[in-house]
Amino acid sequence: MVMSADQDQQVRRFSEMLDALHCGAMLIDRAGRIVHANCRLCEMSGRDCAELLGLALHEIYAGADGRRAIDDALAHFDEAVEREFFIPRPDGTRVPVIVSGRPLRAAAGSAAYRVVTIIDISERKRAEERSAEAYREVARLSDTVLEQALELRSYSRDLEQRVRQRTAELHDANVEAIYMLAVASEAKDADTGAHVRRIERLARQLALAAGLSEAEAAHLGHSAILHDVGKMHVPDELLRKPGPLTPDEWAVMRLHTVNGERILSRKPFFEVARRIARSHHENWDGSGYPDGLSGEAIPREARIVRLVDAFDALTTARAYKAAWPAAQAVAELRSGAGSAFEARLVEVFVPLVESGVVGGPA
Ligand SMILES: [Fe+2]
Repeated sequence: MVMSADQDQQVRRFSEMLDALHCGAMLIDRAGRIVHANCRLCEMSGRDCAELLGLALHEIYAGADGRRAIDDALAHFDEAVEREFFIPRPDGTRVPVIVSGRPLRAAAGSAAYRVVTIIDISERKRAEERSAEAYREVARLSDTVLEQALELRSYSRDLEQRVRQRTAELHDANVEAIYMLAVASEAKDADTGAHVRRIERLARQLALAAGLSEAEAAHLGHSAILHDVGKMHVPDELLRKPGPLTPDEWAVMRLHTVNGERILSRKPFFEVARRIARSHHENWDGSGYPDGLSGEAIPREARIVRLVDAFDALTTARAYKAAWPAAQAVAELRSGAGSAFEARLVEVFVPLVESGVVGGPA
């Protein structure tokens, strides 16, 4: 490497400038030999500065990818170029860098040297890698969370299904218990379990026609079954007495209302049944028992059962009377509208009878 005096002076001046830079920097000649390398570059490359001086770049870049890039840079020696590249270290590692090169011209004509600055971007690359890793981790966690959420939803659905099933089973068990209790209490009476089943159906149909929901009407129907459960406490001879009752006997008979309320559970499921048991003999005009309630002070469920119980008694044969035809029973209900029965309920119930909606098969 023979230099003219001018070149030598130029190289020295530039070398001093390059030494003052914080980034790596070097001067190379057109053959790709290092004419000067500053301390920062020597440090980056893991080599002594004396070792680098005079070394051809091809000797440093042993791999094909590096050599191709060097050939390309030398082929464009007189152009300014910036690109991402790397510095190979003796231990086999690579330092990622950004390389900026441009020709160093003293006068017109082609340049004898090229000044190259090299910025270490290891930290930036590590940060990028950390970000990418963090992103992959977040993506993985998202997948996991999603899987867990799906599992949880499936578990929750299963649980809901089991709760629904269990609730239905409990409801069925309650209704079954109602029937058993009702039939047991009716066994004392002359009538059979058929009466309670008719009352259940009539009460449900009237409740629906009066505007209650399907569920409310169904619950009212089941609750109505137990309206006379208090008769369990009434002596058999009273229940089956063919003739009229004495005032004392009536007093005992009337107690089946309060006894019925007392027998029934205080659980919410039996709330309606308890109201019906106590108040199904109250009259709209206040002449009924056991509390002498009148009008809307009488629970609506009890007003409904009061009406359908009377209709069933009229249209069913008893030991002391034949079954009345529906038309005759309707006339009787109408005559009691406003006294024994709530007039509005009679008006809702009569069309059901006359159209054949009630009284059909269960
Ligand atoms: Fe009764």
